[in-house]
Amino acid sequence: MAANILVIHGPNLNLLGRREPTIYGRTTLEDINRNLVAKAQAASVVLNTFQSNAEHELIARVQEAMNDGTDFILINPAALTHTSIALRDAIAATSLPFVEIHLSNIYTREEFRRTSYFSDIAVGVISGLGAAGYELALGFALLHK
Ligand code: DQA
Repeated sequence: MAANILVIHGPNLNLLGRREPTIYGRTTLEDINRNLVAKAQAASVVLNTFQSNAEHELIARVQEAMNDGTDFILINPAALTHTSIALRDAIAATSLPFVEIHLSNIYTREEFRRTSYFSDIAVGVISGLGAAGYELALGFALLHK
């Protein structure tokens, strides 16, 4: 079971709840984080969350995970999913298992969203299940050995 989980949220996810709610839903990022922290606490697991709109800050936080005891990552790279080799390389450098999460189903939207720089190195991908996707990914992380 993962004992120290890091949740990374990419650009614009700070706007959840207000941002294109027909696509991303009305749940805010604080709601998502609060729920994850509560579920992790109930399982006696440490869970840290981090959101940034800056690619370099996300890379720095992922690099930190190499030394801070993190043993599993949940990440929604948001638009960086489709563009960032640098963030992919950072997560690959950690050698940590991770689940890639998207609120929307990226395969039913614009063509450019169908490419992910993360999916081929992820343990798994959850896309299209809204905020529930985070909870399901956490459930998996808690089972992961
Ligand atoms: C997203 C999908 C991405 O294509 C988009 O750029 C996002 C959010 C999602 O959660 O559905 O910002 O990752």
